[in-house]
Amino acid sequence: MFDPLPFELHLTTRWLGYPLHFLSEVDSTNRRLKEMADRGATTGTVLLADHQHAGRGRQGRSWLTPPASSLLFSLLLRPARLTERHALLPLVTAVAVAQALESHLALQPSIKWPNDLLFGGRKGAGILIESEGNSIVVGIGLNVNQELGALTELPDATSLRLVLGHSIERSPLLAALLQTLEARYDEFEAGWEPHEAWRQRAVLLGKPVWVYPTEGERWQGTALDIAPDGSLLVERDGGGQVALHAGEMSLRELA
Ligand code: BTN
Repeated sequence: MFDPLPFELHLTTRWLGYPLHFLSEVDSTNRRLKEMADRGATTGTVLLADHQHAGRGRQGRSWLTPPASSLLFSLLLRPARLTERHALLPLVTAVAVAQALESHLALQPSIKWPNDLLFGGRKGAGILIESEGNSIVVGIGLNVNQELGALTELPDATSLRLVLGHSIERSPLLAALLQTLEARYDEFEAGWEPHEAWRQRAVLLGKPVWVYPTEGERWQGTALDIAPDGSLLVERDGGGQVALHAGEMSLRELA
């Protein structure tokens, strides 16, 4: 059912990545891992793929990457008890991915609400979290070795290779990501709040933004802060504060 891993992987985690399965091609690691969860996959299971032909992004978008260029994986969390705090997992995950890239590659990613990872204003990684019952599937797509030509249709996207100027070995990077994700998830379950670490890396706070709600017309405002529940507080031009739980934003000077 699964394929042999295309590289050697030295995991230093305790529970995340056990088991770790690889598929050279799949429709979507999120969709397939959800199916595995329905059949009893346990917490910490990771599904990695070299290529997705129906990769899913936030807001119903697709996530398209050339084969073997990226890290595309989903991980399964099955907390004993699902609480409202789990709505903070998008922030926890974004902080963990940012910290792994900081310590492993000395990069300085910023986070665009809720959990896009940007490098010099361009998106290099996306996170899609989907829950069903108490199964939480966290999907991470990180553009690693794409050349410029692979991103011509995505002018706002970048890859680690383009940022650093050289190609990156995926295996040690994946090990670093899983190690940092496990550490932050453990701390989160023990009561850590991700807001401050998220704020330190946030790009939108204090800036004029366009808000694209999931329904209705775009509107303008100023991004104020992240709320305790993980929503983004935006001051509407013309008055009134809105707590956004979903939707898209863009910096107004770039729009
Ligand atoms: C976004 O829109 O920014 C989220 C993109 C998430 C993409 C990843 S790739 C691995 C996992 N499987 C999917 O189908 N999507 C996520």
